[in-house]
Amino acid sequence: MTAAFQPPGFDPGTVWLVGAGPGDPGLLTLHAAHALARADVVLHDALVSPEILALAAGARLEPVGKRAGGRRTAQMRINERLVQLARAGLRVVRLKGGDPLVFGRGSEEALALAAAGIALRIVPGISAGIGGTAAAGIPLTHRGLARSVAFVTGHDSTGGLPDSVDWQALSRGADVLVLYMGLRQIGAIAARLRAAGRPAGTRLAFISDATTPRQRVRTGTLEEAERIAAAIPAASPTLIVIGEVVALRPCIAAWQQAPPAHAAAVPSLATA
Ligand SMILES: C[S@@+](CC[C@H](N)C(=O)[O-])C[C@H]1O[C@@H](n2cnc3c(N)ncnc32)[C@H](O)[C@@H]1O
Repeated sequence: MTAAFQPPGFDPGTVWLVGAGPGDPGLLTLHAAHALARADVVLHDALVSPEILALAAGARLEPVGKRAGGRRTAQMRINERLVQLARAGLRVVRLKGGDPLVFGRGSEEALALAAAGIALRIVPGISAGIGGTAAAGIPLTHRGLARSVAFVTGHDSTGGLPDSVDWQALSRGADVLVLYMGLRQIGAIAARLRAAGRPAGTRLAFISDATTPRQRVRTGTLEEAERIAAAIPAASPTLIVIGEVVALRPCIAAWQQAPPAHAAAVPSLATA
């Protein structure tokens, strides 16, 4: 921490909902590092690397989320645990991959804390859709090529294609689509986008384990999407970028340095 940076006080009996970024510990915010250093207890998702958890040296770590002990931890149970720990007078960090309020159910936790009268702070993190695409050398906007971008989830709570997403409107409404958790449903999504008028040759990229040393980018077209997806391990967290900006990647990535070695393995995520 620099002398000029004064982190906010982390009071006992409060909860900080903290974004851990896409994987590389170097992409944590100063607030996140401060919170981890001061926390008494950290409830963390599976998608947070050991290197980041090591910053919480004085805290008890409680794994929750997708793969805690091989089981899902029910969201209600996490909400109750946060309230319980705060009421016990602890400094509680709820650490989530990326940004806590982007496809991470952080808003449900914030609402539960507010309903219980627990003071909270939300520490934004770099969402995978922003940090992961940049690390892959794919700009989300580019003058003359893309002026709008939409972030979309590729599945609903049952694992199926989200009914509430209007793929036709989305296809026309945004130049670039960034799909989170889209691997399993990419065949159905590609079919809907093509039916809505996106050409079969529309470029797309799959970015797996972004910002870690295992980062891997696979590119192709909408008509090749399902075949490319089939080769990606389900356990690798993967983003899918659809749009002509993908064509810029070879020019940028040829000169882009690899993710730093300290950005160690991001644990796998069942729903990737
Ligand atoms: C439950 S969502 C959580 C998103 C997170 N809150 C965020 O803002 O990035 C998990 C999905 O985010 C994407 N994701 C997260 N980290 C990633 C990474 N390092 N590389 C590629 N995709 C990632 C994948 O699509 C993964 O299935």
